[in-house]
Amino acid sequence: MKIPNHYHCLSGIFTLLFLIFQVLHSFASPVLQYCRHDQRDALLEFKHEFSVNKSNSILSLSSWNKSSDCCSWEGVMCDAKSGHVLSLYLDFIPLNNSLKPDSGLFKLHHLRNLTLSNCNLSGELPSSLGNLSHLTKLHLSKNHLVGEIPASLGNLNQLRDLSLDNNQFSGNIPFSFANYTKLSHLIISNNHFTGEFPLVLLNLSTSLSYIVISDNLFKSTLPSDMSQFQRLKNIDMGGNSFFGYFPTSLFMNPLLGIVSLRKNQFKGPIEFRNASSFSKLLILFLQQNKFNGPIPKSISKFSNLKNLDLHDNSFTGSVPNLPNLEFLDLSYNKLEGEIPGPLGDMLELMLAHNSFSSFGKAFELSDLTHIQSMDLSSNSLRGPLPSWICKLRPLLLLDLSKNSFGGSIPQCLKDAIVELSTLNLQNNNLSGILPPDIFVNATNLVSVDISGNQLEGKLPKSLINCVSLEFLNVKSNRIKDVFPSWLGSLPSLDVLILRENELYGPLYHPRMSIGFQSLKIIDLSRNHFNGTLPPFYFANWSEITNSTKRDTEYMGDGYSTNSMEMVNKGVDMLFELIRTDFGGIDFSGNNFSGKIPESIGLLKGLRILNLSSNGFTSSIPQSLANLTNLEALDLSRNQLSGRIPQNLARLSFLSIMNFSRNDLQGPIPRSTQFERQNCSAFMDNPRLYGLEDICGKSHVPNPTPQEREDLSEPKEQVISWISAVIAYVPGVFCGLVIGHIYSPQIHKWFM
Ligand SMILES: *[C@@H]1O[C@H](CO)[C@@H](O)[C@H](O)[C@H]1NC(C)=O
Ligand SMILES: *[C@@H]1O[C@H](CO)[C@@H](O)[C@H](O)[C@H]1NC(C)=O
Ligand SMILES: *[C@@H]1O[C@H](CO)[C@@H](O)[C@H](O)[C@H]1NC(C)=O
Ligand SMILES: *[C@@H]1O[C@H](CO)[C@@H](O)[C@H](O)[C@H]1NC(C)=O
Ligand SMILES: *[C@@H]1O[C@H](CO)[C@@H](O)[C@H](O)[C@H]1NC(C)=O
Ligand SMILES: *[C@@H]1O[C@H](CO)[C@@H](O)[C@H](O)[C@H]1NC(C)=O
Ligand SMILES: *[C@@H]1O[C@H](CO)[C@@H](O)[C@H](O)[C@H]1NC(C)=O
Ligand SMILES: *[C@@H]1O[C@H](CO)[C@@H](O)[C@H](O)[C@H]1NC(C)=O
Ligand SMILES: *[C@@H]1O[C@H](CO)[C@@H](O)[C@H](O)[C@H]1NC(C)=O
Ligand SMILES: *[C@@H]1O[C@H](CO)[C@@H](O)[C@H](O)[C@H]1NC(C)=O
Ligand SMILES: *[C@@H]1O[C@H](CO)[C@@H](O)[C@H](O)[C@H]1NC(C)=O
Ligand SMILES: *[C@@H]1O[C@H](CO)[C@@H](O)[C@H](O)[C@H]1NC(C)=O
Repeated sequence: MKIPNHYHCLSGIFTLLFLIFQVLHSFASPVLQYCRHDQRDALLEFKHEFSVNKSNSILSLSSWNKSSDCCSWEGVMCDAKSGHVLSLYLDFIPLNNSLKPDSGLFKLHHLRNLTLSNCNLSGELPSSLGNLSHLTKLHLSKNHLVGEIPASLGNLNQLRDLSLDNNQFSGNIPFSFANYTKLSHLIISNNHFTGEFPLVLLNLSTSLSYIVISDNLFKSTLPSDMSQFQRLKNIDMGGNSFFGYFPTSLFMNPLLGIVSLRKNQFKGPIEFRNASSFSKLLILFLQQNKFNGPIPKSISKFSNLKNLDLHDNSFTGSVPNLPNLEFLDLSYNKLEGEIPGPLGDMLELMLAHNSFSSFGKAFELSDLTHIQSMDLSSNSLRGPLPSWICKLRPLLLLDLSKNSFGGSIPQCLKDAIVELSTLNLQNNNLSGILPPDIFVNATNLVSVDISGNQLEGKLPKSLINCVSLEFLNVKSNRIKDVFPSWLGSLPSLDVLILRENELYGPLYHPRMSIGFQSLKIIDLSRNHFNGTLPPFYFANWSEITNSTKRDTEYMGDGYSTNSMEMVNKGVDMLFELIRTDFGGIDFSGNNFSGKIPESIGLLKGLRILNLSSNGFTSSIPQSLANLTNLEALDLSRNQLSGRIPQNLARLSFLSIMNFSRNDLQGPIPRSTQFERQNCSAFMDNPRLYGLEDICGKSHVPNPTPQEREDLSEPKEQVISWISAVIAYVPGVFCGLVIGHIYSPQIHKWFM
């Protein structure tokens, strides 16, 4: 935010005046900050309960020693007259231990403020904490405290500010909290608290202004009348198991700024009967519930509303105008009709997975230059890409995938993607030639997905400017070009998918460097590539060579080490997998010939290798046995001869393999992995033997077409595997969390 200069000046003057005032003030009243010995001894006792005195780190409370006034010690503040310790601020000092029931701390009877946040405290809270009856502020956040809250804490009846968040506290909120008649901030999020909505909060309704009870195990309906919280500004009940209907009465509280019911089991329609236009409501999070019905028009009354998240519910119908929003997430609902406008201040617009079919007039007239992320994927939008698309200046995400946009990609899109990080246009009906200079200024692009369209011509050479590119998917188009070896110079390219196009010619030119040193996944399958690959072809692909983290990281962790299982378990793990150590090569369905390069054995991180349906000849390289992480190997439908390397039997992760339709001979390697294969994995190699264990007695070395049909497995098991991996990736790839950005002022509200 730009602040005018004169404002800076003014605030500078005020600061100066304030300092002068303070200095004068401190001269005016005689400062008697000497340390009382009982207080000093209590503090030292407290310190010695931890190993802090041993440590020589800067966090070690070395100033807590007898050679200085205890009122000047780090984190200690005393009453100037009496010398009693009033405040103890020890945030981020690693105490690494529990609070003792007879801790010296509890001798500091005059303490008003005690903050021990992020001190790595463990164990239970001793009930003697209730002895510090003058406490107004108690912060015990990002520790490892466990157990129930002692009822004695109800003694702290002067408390205004209680933060117990981010621990592992359990049990109910004690009813003794009803004593906290002055409590303004109650923050107990991220614990294991159980029971019903703490009704004791109703006793405190005249004082509470912050209620943050999110991410616990509360389970109940909400009180039917929640209109009595006259000072309430922020209430976060997200991440629990609250159920029942929408708490309409809550919205009668005049100061309400933030409401989150995120991730509960609320159901039914939402309604804001008594919402006033003077409402201060700024943030409303209702996502991940079971709300249904229309988004009521009355929501437009919240003229200050900046941030509205309703994603993952079952809202239906069209969307009312929401003119002042900065953030809107309506994804995963059943909304339809026009995408509303105007969108003057919009930063993030997330409407994916609905049935929106067109853009409203007000939308098209909007100033779209603030938008940082726009996700309209998986809707029913059709027609040519709208002309306003070139006016966008998105910073993070533009996702129009899985719609029915047709026509060509406009030349001017190059201006919209200058700052962009993720561009996803996959699965539309886009056709024509990609403008050659479209990526000329797109130096921030990390992920580009234009797969599943009918785009023609050559790959735009301007991609060479995308120095941040990690993910490129042009699968299933009609690109007719030679292999883009020039992409090999992109320093971060992890994933290159050129599958199902009309690409042709050799991969390797003697006068060009091979590059692609960051590559982890390359899929060239079903094109018309041909020619031979030199023995050293894979020698420079250092990313797959070095990424063998599986052995060190996944094994002990309770993680499955099998990528196939990962695919079934879902996106998150898969995503993690790809980001860390996944390597995959699919060259299948081309016309490559000659020997499989020996250097393939260097790619230690390789998990999938598919070279099927080509014209590879000669023997299978022995070096394959060095690919200790390999899980799927398909060499079928080539002209490979010689023996299957016996050392492949050592590859303990190799669970899918296919050697069929070659000219292999000799014995099949013996291992449980080999014996588990379907017979069809070896068929049509007349001179291969030792198949009895796999195929049984009925083994047919040269099946008739009908027998072959009977033997064959579900087709292309390996091929669909790598596609499955890729299918999940776009949009969430490369560490981009396509989540919520908050404007600075909204961010402030959270703290
Ligand atoms: C800290 O030092 C004091 C004396 O200097 C000693 O009595 C106490 O046991 C020490 N504490 C720990 C935890 O080592
Ligand atoms: C607490 O543990 C951390 C990490 O083990 C260590 O660096 C720190 O010195 C410990 N603090 C004390 C006071 O022992
Ligand atoms: C005692 O604390 C003072 C600061 O209050 C510090 O200068 C001094 O080094 C400390 N002494 C020891 C032995 O740590
Ligand atoms: C927290 O304290 C424990 C000992 O209670 C220690 O093992 C651990 O390393 C500490 N962690 C940090 C981050 O200081
Ligand atoms: C806390 O107060 C009770 C009752 O006044 C007293 O018996 C107990 O010793 C106190 N505990 C501490 C640690 O001061
Ligand atoms: C205690 O904390 C409150 C709020 O941060 C502050 O206003 C007050 O001055 C502090 N009191 C003392 C004695 O430090
Ligand atoms: C509430 O506070 C009073 C003192 O004001 C105390 O006597 C009483 O025991 C407290 N109640 C609970 C349940 O802690
Ligand atoms: C809390 O509210 C309940 C119900 O209104 C009432 O019965 C109880 O006396 C109140 N407790 C205190 C300490 O105010
Ligand atoms: C794109 O880059 C060229 C020079 O490389 C520059 O002239 C042009 O203004 C840039 N366009 C945008 C929209 O930044
Ligand atoms: C590769 O295919 C092209 C046609 O696309 C053909 O002209 C060329 O001879 C082929 N090269 C090899 C080595 O087969
Ligand atoms: C990766 O492998 C290459 C050669 O294979 C080597 O030069 C490089 O140092 C390795 N990088 C890391 C981070 O291990
Ligand atoms: C397999 O790797 C080892 C050590 O990394 C190497 O000595 C050996 O030559 C490799 N085998 C083949 C066949 O490449």
